[in-house]
Amino acid sequence: MPKIVISGRGGSGKSTLVTLIAQTLKEQGKEVLVVDSDESNLGLGIMLGIEPAEKTLMDHLGGKPIVTEKIMTMIRQEGNEQVDLFPEDVTLKDLSPEFVHWNENAGFMQIGKIEHTMEGCACPMGAVARDFLKHLILDEGQWVLVDTEAGVEHFGRGVVEGADAVIMVVDPSNDAVLLTEKAAELTEEAGKDFGVVLNKVDEDTKPVLEEVLAAKGIIIKGFLPYSSALAQTNLRGKSLDVHSTKGELDNLIMKITP
Ligand SMILES: Nc1ncnc2c1ncn2[C@@H]1O[C@H](COP(=O)(O)OP(=O)(O)O)[C@@H](O)[C@H]1O
Ligand SMILES: [Mg+2]
Repeated sequence: MPKIVISGRGGSGKSTLVTLIAQTLKEQGKEVLVVDSDESNLGLGIMLGIEPAEKTLMDHLGGKPIVTEKIMTMIRQEGNEQVDLFPEDVTLKDLSPEFVHWNENAGFMQIGKIEHTMEGCACPMGAVARDFLKHLILDEGQWVLVDTEAGVEHFGRGVVEGADAVIMVVDPSNDAVLLTEKAAELTEEAGKDFGVVLNKVDEDTKPVLEEVLAAKGIIIKGFLPYSSALAQTNLRGKSLDVHSTKGELDNLIMKITP
């Protein structure tokens, strides 16, 4: 079953969409693991209503300095950073509760967060995410949703390599459209499925955004209207309620199921 990377510009609604898809899959009785690969933002656990585990995956692997050293050794020996941090395949059942917290059939884990000034770039987080996703084997009815940092750096870091598909969240802005074109090219280069979900659209802007994307040959899988309930729940630091979205999610999940 699918491992899907959710991509998009900052504030487009990636974490919101990941949360709503995860909650819907959970209600459908599917098992879903949400992987937070955004090294900066901290609010995904709150949106999901799942407390982050004691450790990030990076901590579980010994911490960033140790992982960075393994990557540097790889670069020196092989000339690339394709480090094997997980020598064996793993299943959802194998994942340690030290870095995954479950709420019934929905799990939440974080790859790693920037913790200190001058700690260096977030490239090791990308290497960890890529290798983890590559080695994670899913059964029928199991899903993985990967929330990402803003922009397209996760393509450069190869995170998409470990996934089956990319869903781009597009809010009504020219920057979002330009980024979508770029992401579509990069996804094709990586040989993965690509689709777009429009977010924060109203009845007037939705057709305009559809027209602009259609002119670029971009396939739209679904949309989420602007919802003041979602915006206010988030602003108050509460977990989101998928029931406030009126069934759009069931439809969307059908369309993004590979
Ligand atoms: N459909 C929507 N309607 C209203 N507000 C939304 C919607 N989707 C996202 N938001 C709001 O937009 C902001 C950014 O959303 P978020 O999911 O954190 O974006 P990202 O993860 O892409 O940075 C948040 O305040 C969120 O509540
Ligand atoms: Mg986010």
